[in-house]
Amino acid sequence: LVVVLDFGGQYSQLIARRVRELGVFCELLPFDTPIEEVLARRPLGLILSGGPASVYEPGAPPLPDGLLSSGLPVLGICYGMQAMARALGGRVEPAPVGEFGRTPLEVRESGELLAGLPTVQTCWMSHRDAVFEPPPGFRALAASPASPVAAFESTQRRLYGIQFHPEVTHTPHGRDVLERFLRRICGARSNWTPGSLVAKQIERIRERVGNERVICALSGGVDSSVAALIVHRAVGDALTCVFVDHGLLRKNEREQVVAAFRDRFQVPLVAVDARARFLARLRGVVDPERKRKIIGEEFIRVFEEQARELGEPRFLVQGTLYSDVIESGGAKGAATIKSHHNVGGLPEDLHFELIEPLRDLFKDEVRQVGLELGLPERLVWRQPFPGPGLAIRIVGGEVTEERLEVLREADAILQDEIRAAGLYRELWQSFCVLPADLRTVGVQGDGRTYGYVIVIRAVTSEDAMTADWARLPYDLIERVSQRIVAELPQVNRVVLDVTSKPPGTIEWE
Ligand code: XMP
Repeated sequence: LVVVLDFGGQYSQLIARRVRELGVFCELLPFDTPIEEVLARRPLGLILSGGPASVYEPGAPPLPDGLLSSGLPVLGICYGMQAMARALGGRVEPAPVGEFGRTPLEVRESGELLAGLPTVQTCWMSHRDAVFEPPPGFRALAASPASPVAAFESTQRRLYGIQFHPEVTHTPHGRDVLERFLRRICGARSNWTPGSLVAKQIERIRERVGNERVICALSGGVDSSVAALIVHRAVGDALTCVFVDHGLLRKNEREQVVAAFRDRFQVPLVAVDARARFLARLRGVVDPERKRKIIGEEFIRVFEEQARELGEPRFLVQGTLYSDVIESGGAKGAATIKSHHNVGGLPEDLHFELIEPLRDLFKDEVRQVGLELGLPERLVWRQPFPGPGLAIRIVGGEVTEERLEVLREADAILQDEIRAAGLYRELWQSFCVLPADLRTVGVQGDGRTYGYVIVIRAVTSEDAMTADWARLPYDLIERVSQRIVAELPQVNRVVLDVTSKPPGTIEWE
């Protein structure tokens, strides 16, 4: 195990992911975790992340007491390096100019950390302060135009620092630097995989559950699917999955989930047909927030009814990810905090004990585990789909069965063509929107039509906080447009949304 202490850097999670990709288990802890707690985990080494603060400003997050004298190898990155330098008597000051983005790095002395790497290389920087003199007893290893000391080390004290970010792909030798730290300096072996963590989880879940029953709200998304499969491995038919068809799903979605779970994995699955009751409750509702609220409430009601019918299972499976755990508990120095909305999920005060088999995994690791467990690629790589489903894509008017049908078919055509073009995985999301009360005039077969407009929305994104509209190929857009108007008589016009986020949001409401 290696611990990354998070000083609020933009890339802290990425450092942890890279370490894990190198086959070494890694946990991310807030910078103010008491040193005893860190040491109790028996780490082989520590990494200090970057962060938005300046080491000499009041209130800058300090290094935990005793950290640098613990005897463990420590690698400071960016702010982490500067904090280390300052604590040990080096000189840190604002650089005349900051360095942002690709920067040339000159390795003057390779030392232990940079041994075997090219003397001139490119790295990724993001800083305004720089180390001007290493602490006494440290050797300066490298420099960049605005960082007189861009890397330093004291092999005797086992302390190392780099100004650049080895965790981003724009630092071509970043992986090598991390690997040297982990293997040579920390002596870590690279035998960890997400699967090994799952094996342990299965044991633990089996012990915890005993003879009790477990329930899982399966949405068909990758998180709940993988969580359900892991729990099924652990407790077999003591688990029942509940899949709620609220009528706001995409084409064939229910069939695909049933085929995967009930038929292929023989997981006990109740697929609840709640279409009529959701539609009834949405009658006459136009306001987006009311829609979300109604759908959220109704979902919980349906789920509770099912739980009652199943004799009130004691445990509930949740697909909480490591990034959710970190965000709710840690990242104290971070400059921006993400707010979650999870309509169509379950509230926290249900009377279940939680089983969260993905708590230690990042999203890409969950996908890897999903593939290892035999989950179909279609589910493993599914784009995010909001809990309230198609209801929030019928905008400015009431959600009706007819409109859902039009939207569902248009959406299926778009997905078809995007998959055929090999673009599905590259896009964060791609979907159609139906402005409900808008009709436009068209001409088809020598006749005047007055029909619906379908909007194509496709975005690229890393985390949904920001997004860019996807530059779909023109011929793909043309095929989608032609097919939608040809196959759906109610539609006579197709338009493309070319708004990024911000200022737009990904969804239309
Ligand atoms: P926006 O539209 O805010 O969406 O840019 C960001 C991401 O969140 C998804 N989304 C939701 N997910 N319940 C959900 O579970 C919701 O009410 C909801 N609204 C938006 C959206 O699809 C995108 O991935």
